[in-house]
Amino acid sequence: MRLVLLGAPGAGKGTQAALIKEHHGLAHVSTGDIFRENLKNKTPLGLEAKKYMDAGQLVPDETVMKMVGEKLSEFKPDEGFMLDGFPRTVAQAEFLETQTKLDGVILFNISDEEIVKRLSSRAVCKDCGNVTSRLINDKCPSCGGELYTRDDDNEETIRSRLKVFHEQTEPLINFYRDRGLLLEVDAGHGQKPEKVFELVLKLLSHD
Ligand code: AP5
Ligand code: MG
Repeated sequence: MRLVLLGAPGAGKGTQAALIKEHHGLAHVSTGDIFRENLKNKTPLGLEAKKYMDAGQLVPDETVMKMVGEKLSEFKPDEGFMLDGFPRTVAQAEFLETQTKLDGVILFNISDEEIVKRLSSRAVCKDCGNVTSRLINDKCPSCGGELYTRDDDNEETIRSRLKVFHEQTEPLINFYRDRGLLLEVDAGHGQKPEKVFELVLKLLSHD
């Protein structure tokens, strides 16, 4: 199965990807995680991406498409994967159509206000990368590691990421609806990740 996880920053794409990976054994490709890994290793790609990420803007299409094209070429034709955070523009979606055939696009619906609340308390484990919330944990619940806050999780950057989502990524909703690929999930209204995951499993079993 080849899926795209679509949704605003903080909609829970990474959280659901971890659950889907556990359940379906699908590989998880997150463009944001690849950029952060490159930044940690101070590669030219990571340093270029940092300028845009810190400002809550999108990394230019050519850079992202080259990186994703290389990543996708590592998969065998019968291997499944989930793309998290890609595509984010119509140009990226058109590029993806030249690279692979998708089985579905899961759209995580949630309000901006709920997102700002979630992202202001998000915490990531320094050791295993597990994502959690400071409202629930002060150490990683999975390995006990120290938690850190992402550089782009401050209110000003969160607001610009949301603006970019509405302007540049939302057109993909109709793009995929027109192709009969869109699967919508209510990812907000205070529903716990496990509840959202139940909805995802239901959608995928009907697919
Ligand atoms: P990226 O890393 O993809 O960030 P994002 O899209 O802004 O999404 P997030 O990772 O912030 O949120 P998420 O939906 O994964 O939510 P999560 O599960 O963590 O991209 C970062 C940057 O890289 C971009 O701004 C851009 O600059 C660049 N970039 C990446 N891809 C690009 C592309 N294709 N083109 C151009 N530029 C690109 O959950 C969030 C929080 O909520 C966590 O604390 C979690 O524990 C909590 N949570 C999750 N689910 C629930 C729930 N049901 N209830 C309560 N809390 C919950
Ligand atoms: Mg994420």
